[in-house]
Amino acid sequence: MTRHFLSLNDLSTTEILRMLDRAIELKKMLARGELYEPMRNGALAMIFEKSSTRTRVSFEVAAIHFGGNAIFIAPGDSHVARGEPLSDTARVLSSMTRAIVMRTHSHDRVSELARHSTVPVINGLSDLFHPCQLLADLLTWVEHRGSVSGIEVAWVGDGNNMCHSWANACKLLDFSLRIATPAGYEPIEGIVHDKSGRITLFNDPRAAVENADLVVTDTWASMGQEDEKQARIDAFAGFTVDGALMKTARSDALFMHCLPAYRGYEVSTEVIDGAQSVVWDQAENRLHAQKALLEFLLRENGR
Ligand code: CP
Ligand code: NVA
Repeated sequence: MTRHFLSLNDLSTTEILRMLDRAIELKKMLARGELYEPMRNGALAMIFEKSSTRTRVSFEVAAIHFGGNAIFIAPGDSHVARGEPLSDTARVLSSMTRAIVMRTHSHDRVSELARHSTVPVINGLSDLFHPCQLLADLLTWVEHRGSVSGIEVAWVGDGNNMCHSWANACKLLDFSLRIATPAGYEPIEGIVHDKSGRITLFNDPRAAVENADLVVTDTWASMGQEDEKQARIDAFAGFTVDGALMKTARSDALFMHCLPAYRGYEVSTEVIDGAQSVVWDQAENRLHAQKALLEFLLRENGR
């Protein structure tokens, strides 16, 4: 059975912790200028049906550092957009590449690709989850503060793909997650349901952020929701993570945002560009975390 990475739940707690350690090691190896090429002559296929800066560049650079190459397939460039079944595409790409990254709208599409692929499929973001970003975010926390176990994370904003991935992470790594969304923008109940009571939902940002160790937000209008932008700006009034809200968190709290950010909406300029913000570390860590992920999946799948 091929192992894929469609959500964090595809990894065990031990595997995630080891991957974070390995990412730190790979980061040091890169800084030392050590050549390490586990993908020599191998190709990484990248099917992107949504825009990307960080995910695309970090996977492409990871493939280059690993001695391989990434092949970027933009929307409209391949036969996928013209209706060739994903099952056939998976079969063809599996015969030529070592792994496939897919960024798409419906999570079913990346699941369908994985069902028919004999090389590992990595979810580079779907409407439901963004697990690669979580690996980088966890790595960033570990580098700045150590273990995530037992910390209190506040999510402020939309109950979206990033929020869902934080929910998966808190169950696997045992920290609490307080989610504040406007009414009607809550995350999917089945994803945030947690018997151990680690996840609490609020409609008041202050209730979620009070004494938090980490405050996280994301855009109010995700890719594919462009038509709802104005309605969302109205609905999310009062949910901006600004200096006053950050003051209610612990004095040493960190601020995270997966980027791209919209200053003045989900986050104020003073917060994202301020001393508590670690957004640039998160972005850089996409590279190191995904190298650890790629190495793990290639090894697990004997490639
Ligand atoms: N955070 C993130 O996934 O960024 P991109 O959309 O630029 O890939
Ligand atoms: N929630 C955002 C994340 C972008 C990286 C989106 O899906 O557009």
